[in-house]
Amino acid sequence: MFKTIGVIMAGIMATSVMAADIKLPAPDKTNTTTLIQALEKRHSDREFSDKAVDNQTLSTILWAAYGVNREDGKRTIPTALDKKDLSIYVFNKDGIWLYDAPNNTLKQQSAENHLDLFRMQDYMNAVSTVLVYTGSTEEYAVMHAGSAYQNVELYAAANDMASIVRGYFDHEKVQEVLNLPDGQRVIISQAIGWKK
Ligand SMILES: Cc1cc2nc3c(=O)[nH]c(=O)nc-3n(C[C@H](O)[C@H](O)[C@H](O)COP(=O)(O)O)c2cc1C
Repeated sequence: MFKTIGVIMAGIMATSVMAADIKLPAPDKTNTTTLIQALEKRHSDREFSDKAVDNQTLSTILWAAYGVNREDGKRTIPTALDKKDLSIYVFNKDGIWLYDAPNNTLKQQSAENHLDLFRMQDYMNAVSTVLVYTGSTEEYAVMHAGSAYQNVELYAAANDMASIVRGYFDHEKVQEVLNLPDGQRVIISQAIGWKK
């Protein structure tokens, strides 16, 4: 009996995934749209459906943005000095989640819905998923965010989803709810979802 409980406890600890964290499904890499077709279709979309983005799709979006694409742990975007200092937070109705790329996991930061912080333009009322890019105060961090959001723009174009990069939101409040450590700042946001 005690031995069984011990085995179960060891199993739980070995996963090192907190109860509130979400282990994402593996990214779906089967899309056959060509890069040129995706570039042809890439545009900012302001017509969102309020249907939530499922975890399978979210996993692939986040992988496109900043996922691990090689065995040595390097990413889908280049980073200066290989610093990997970009972070991506997902804001949705269930709270705020930090993307942990090596473990393909969403780490819960808050269980509160903070989407109101991004609703400064009417079309944002329907949006149910916002990505927030944060990074160091060094100049390169902004470039890393740009590379990642462009990958998401191309993913959206290739998958008939709606996406838009957005600088118009309350940076200070977002910085506050994220409780970022010193030397880290909010860079930009991006709404992603299904087309209306
Ligand atoms: C850094 C950045 C910030 C932006 N901020 C906003 C924004 O706050 N609200 C918005 O509606 N569009 C925003 N946009 C989208 C631009 O308006 C859009 O990219 C531009 O009009 C060109 O249109 P296109 O993306 O369809 O080519 C932003 C784009 C970038 C790159």
